[in-house]
Amino acid sequence: MSSHTAPEKQITAPDILAAKGERKLCMVTAYDYPTALLADKSGMDMILVGDSLAMVVLGHEDTLSVSMDEMVHHTRAAARGTSRALLVADMPFLSYQADVAEAVRNAGRFLSEGRARAVKLEGGRDYAPHVAAMVRSGIPVMGHIGLTPQYVATLGGFKAQGKSAQAARAMVEDAKALEDAGAFSIVLESMPEETAALITEAVSVPTIGIGAGNVTDGQVLVMHDLLGLFDRFVPRFVKQYAQLGSVVIESLERYRAEVADGAFPGPEHTLHLSPEERDKLA
Ligand code: KIV
Repeated sequence: MSSHTAPEKQITAPDILAAKGERKLCMVTAYDYPTALLADKSGMDMILVGDSLAMVVLGHEDTLSVSMDEMVHHTRAAARGTSRALLVADMPFLSYQADVAEAVRNAGRFLSEGRARAVKLEGGRDYAPHVAAMVRSGIPVMGHIGLTPQYVATLGGFKAQGKSAQAARAMVEDAKALEDAGAFSIVLESMPEETAALITEAVSVPTIGIGAGNVTDGQVLVMHDLLGLFDRFVPRFVKQYAQLGSVVIESLERYRAEVADGAFPGPEHTLHLSPEERDKLA
């Protein structure tokens, strides 16, 4: 009899699609091996290697400066820590906007080099041809509409979107275009709950909300926000489930103090020569 236990079934893009109306979906970002391992162990449905890594890991001001190579590098690390959740990689700024062929090639890199199993891109109906070409090439795609941080310059800042009836209707059309192009789910970022409800009812693919109220088919948060590891800018829609930043600072301060006063390393952390070897030194 084998002592091996069967590996847990991997969640696929079709599983996410089928979950609409059945259960709420949960996604969190992770950008490396240890954080992906923790997210996977926690039972997340999806792990997103978000381009938010530009801000919360690389220290940039916005998400515009992260490159394809950097995103692939982080995706490969996160993939090593992910066995059950669906790993989704975020297409960075200018990796898909210029033309469809380049978009497919870059999306493909996330699957072949990064070992992600889906990609996400920001934008509505204008990017339906890009999404359709990726899906035809065997690449599952998650859409992202509402506040799309890669368009911060044209939006005039990180501002909530879909705040008028007209804007809400336009967003429904964007969501439908992404659905028709074959997207398996759509992130709705920073918009009134009524707008998110309208979109969620209008499409048959799951909507994943962030700052879009409690009416979407699932939720996503940035790990560093929810764990209290990034406080340069905390949006109103973030719930901090822990304050790990202060735990880390306090631990580092204790370590530094114990080095200064000689309390660390203690006998339990110290290796000794055997008595025979010590005698040979005498
Ligand atoms: O980059 C990111 O983390 C995201 C999520 C906020 C959806 O796009």
